[in-house]
Amino acid sequence: MSDFEGLKALVTGGASGIGRATAELLAERGARVAVLDLDPSSVDKPLLGYRADVTDDASVREAVAAAAAGLGGLDVLVNNAGIGAQGTVEDNDDAEWHRVFDVNVLGMVRTARACLPYLRRSAQAAIVNTCSIAATAGLPQRALYSATKGAVYSLTLAMAADHLREGIRVNCVNPGTADTPWIGRLLSAAPDPAAERAALEARQPTGRLVTAEEVAGAIAYLASPLSGATTGTSLAVDGGMQGLRLRPEAR
Ligand SMILES: NC(=O)c1ccc[n+]([C@@H]2O[C@H](COP(=O)([O-])OP(=O)(O)OC[C@H]3O[C@@H](n4cnc5c(N)ncnc54)[C@H](O)[C@@H]3O)[C@@H](O)[C@H]2O)c1
Repeated sequence: MSDFEGLKALVTGGASGIGRATAELLAERGARVAVLDLDPSSVDKPLLGYRADVTDDASVREAVAAAAAGLGGLDVLVNNAGIGAQGTVEDNDDAEWHRVFDVNVLGMVRTARACLPYLRRSAQAAIVNTCSIAATAGLPQRALYSATKGAVYSLTLAMAADHLREGIRVNCVNPGTADTPWIGRLLSAAPDPAAERAALEARQPTGRLVTAEEVAGAIAYLASPLSGATTGTSLAVDGGMQGLRLRPEAR
């Protein structure tokens, strides 16, 4: 029997990229899975799609209630919806800082808040937040984005402490640059997309981008009941970018 057999999972931002790969993997491993997204129109069976904007508390509550009813409960929340931002502290105005925090941080707060009553009823409850290497490494031109992911990292620890005695584990994954539609959009906006891609690949010791499926595998590991002793941790999925210091290759 698979580890997710009989469990019900909700994945935010599950219509694309890392969220999509995660929803599909959890379903393959036996979970019933609902996707909450701004645009769930591409979501197909066996996944259930629900439209919601994580910046809108009422729409999150409505979609979470509908998903929990559709699934017959909730055991796993993957808080994954997020958006990017580029530039130094000088490059984004207050409105943009508020907008990106609203999606990347408060979006997770709203979704967790709506899901907790259901998770408390589960014997195998887990939350996995999609954080980023930007939380733990200083990356150029990512001041706002990194600040949001630093907040997600701290939020993960605080939530793990708050909900431990309720039997709810909370962890996060910290992906390096992952080959998703988001990065596709970023590359096509660059003056020289091939050079930009090469620079992003070279930044990771493996010399390639992380795949959405590799991040999904790490999320499934943390969400699985097999990981019952793991809470309050971050799992890097970054081709070695955070931890390794390689010497240049001998030519
Ligand atoms: N791709 C990377 O290199 C990378 C690296 C580290 C962390 N991450 C994180 O992974 C997560 C997913 O990124 P991805 O690369 O798969 O992106 P993506 O753009 O391919 O997918 C993001 C999904 O989130 C949804 N979404 C965005 N705003 C929303 C909102 N307000 N309400 C509901 N849904 C919303 C989008 O519709 C989309 O389906 C994000 O939290 C991102 O910060 C990505």
